[in-house]
Amino acid sequence: KKILYSGMQATGTLTLGNYLGALKNWVNLTDEYECIYGVMDLHSLTLRQVPAEFRKNARSLYALYVAAGLDPEKNCIYYQSHVSGHAELSWILGCFTYMGELNRMTQFKDKAAKHADNINAGLYTYPVLMAADILLYQADVVPVGVDQKQHLEITRDIAQRFNAIYGDVFTIPEAYIGKAGAKIMSLQEPEKKMSKSDENPNATIRLLDDKDTVIRKFKRAVTDSGSEIVYREDKPGISNLIDIYGCVTGKTREETEKEFDGKGYGDFKLAVGEAVAAELEPLQKRYGELMADKTYLDSMIKMNDEKAAYYSNKTLRKVQKKVGLTERI
Ligand code: TYM
Repeated sequence: KKILYSGMQATGTLTLGNYLGALKNWVNLTDEYECIYGVMDLHSLTLRQVPAEFRKNARSLYALYVAAGLDPEKNCIYYQSHVSGHAELSWILGCFTYMGELNRMTQFKDKAAKHADNINAGLYTYPVLMAADILLYQADVVPVGVDQKQHLEITRDIAQRFNAIYGDVFTIPEAYIGKAGAKIMSLQEPEKKMSKSDENPNATIRLLDDKDTVIRKFKRAVTDSGSEIVYREDKPGISNLIDIYGCVTGKTREETEKEFDGKGYGDFKLAVGEAVAAELEPLQKRYGELMADKTYLDSMIKMNDEKAAYYSNKTLRKVQKKVGLTERI
């Protein structure tokens, strides 16, 4: 089987964007690939975290992966910070990455603009650590949302550069971007992506929002002054809702347009809210059970941390040898 690798930062609570753009696709790919998913807690350190809260979020992210349908007995789900190979490979790859390349990263530019008081080196070399995550496991495919495409491209460039010097060390990974949901937009500013760090609570649906909250947020979603429910560039709000509705019901844009032909925005928003709440309900129930059963999650984490360390060490030792670091006696 081919190898699939992906992960999410352990910051805050996941949004519907993370779910529809990534997590939901992952679940559909588990049979086809040998899957490895990281809780990307080292990446989260690029922004200042409150330690106790951060630890809770990382645990909650692990539980959400499982609650969404990733079976930790079949998929390797582990903590990035528990496998030292990530940091080690990241250093080596950093020596094969040019500042000019990192300067072009749009996510760095966006984050630097937003956190002008903390433009740290970790934020800058973030894509190198991400490349290390992926290359350490010799991943063939990496399912992500559109916003991570540029990071996948630099990963491929670094891998190709390294291979050109040292021979075939790394598998060159492909981004897998789902057809639907690759870019879910904010409910308040539909020109912007839905983001975990949005300060306006009405802009994002959180995976742990209860039914009433979900419906209320969709009712308040910003649309336009027209009245037609059609997918069109000049209607970013309605188009986003059509996409979200499609992701959870499996309906195409045309089918949704037909279903709501002649109906008003209010009816449509309510239907989207109800469909999303219904999708999240079983996930939330399972999440509650997992968070209550400390022994089960702990045992899964321990087993998978060890598996990940084993896989990653194989690549790391090979890389160390290729670049000429002295072998252990
Ligand atoms: P993160 O934590 O920002 O986002 C996790 C995943 O969710 C997707 N996503 C979205 N998809 C659609 N619409 C949205 N509004 C939306 N917002 C977020 C992201 O594209 C991503 O797939 N750098 C990564 C984490 C990472 C990683 C890796 C991923 C670290 N190492 C190795 C893959 C492989 C990130 O910040 O994701």
